[in-house]
Amino acid sequence: MSGSPDPRLSLKIDGPIALLTIDRADKLNALDDQMVEALGAHCRAIERNDVVRVAIITGAGDKAFSAGGDIDAWSANAPEDFSRFWVREGHEAFSALARLRQPVIAVLNGHALGGGFELAAAADLRIAEDHVKIGQPEAGLGIIPGWSGTQRAVRRFGSQIVRRMALFGDVFDANEALTHGLVDSVVEKGRGLERAREIAAVVAKRGPRATELTKMLINAAEGEERERILESLAGGLAASSQELKEGIVAFRAKRPPDFGET
Ligand code: COA
Repeated sequence: MSGSPDPRLSLKIDGPIALLTIDRADKLNALDDQMVEALGAHCRAIERNDVVRVAIITGAGDKAFSAGGDIDAWSANAPEDFSRFWVREGHEAFSALARLRQPVIAVLNGHALGGGFELAAAADLRIAEDHVKIGQPEAGLGIIPGWSGTQRAVRRFGSQIVRRMALFGDVFDANEALTHGLVDSVVEKGRGLERAREIAAVVAKRGPRATELTKMLINAAEGEERERILESLAGGLAASSQELKEGIVAFRAKRPPDFGET
């Protein structure tokens, strides 16, 4: 990546809480490729930050969390670039959010449509303000819900509800979304961030390592990056063993390792 991340997707760290804001209210927080790249870069920074215990993602303004992929940006892609870059890079960034070791809370402070819904789906908890609308309008534009809208969304919410949005164009209000499990709670307009901060404060007091490991296990159960989680858990165990210490000491001393009697 070159230069600093695009300011239209910003990161602010305040003690244990990382706040990601999609900051493009005039375009209803539609996401273009630079913003997607910024999301990936911020996720890497959050992942590496020892102090951060929970992340919140929200949108600027009060109308939209995100109205999805920027239609002008993606429609300008040549078909092969749409597939090679637009879809794949979006997947990578959204997966980086879904796979953050810290829990992620999405505050839906307005419409979550298309890529906006798919981004919200990458969070561990979704708080909806009572004026939101949630849906997957992509096929109505002649495109597919390409930022895991048919994959992670199906794993997390079930195929039938995704069918209704993605195939039939159903758009749900906040209370319908709550009934269908698309969001976890509904709050008054303007109260989402406050509620997320209260929940984040609770998470920040819980065991950080246990929370991180538990999130990995839940992700693995859901089929999210199973291979990396398996090797990372095994790697963590091996790395804290006496065997490793002896292996390294022996390597440095140029002698065979002594792992004891078999
Ligand atoms: N991509 C690019 N620009 C978008 C956008 C998107 N996904 N969604 C909204 N915008 C822009 C509009 O073009 C408009 O820009 P302008 O002021 O320069 O004309 C601005 O955001 C405000 O949107 P507008 O449509 O005027 O607001 P509205 O309140 O009348 O309608 C929506 C709100 C969400 C119903 C409507 O904007 C919409 O349908 N957006 C597209 C949603 C979508 O299909 N997402 C999936 C994309 S793959």
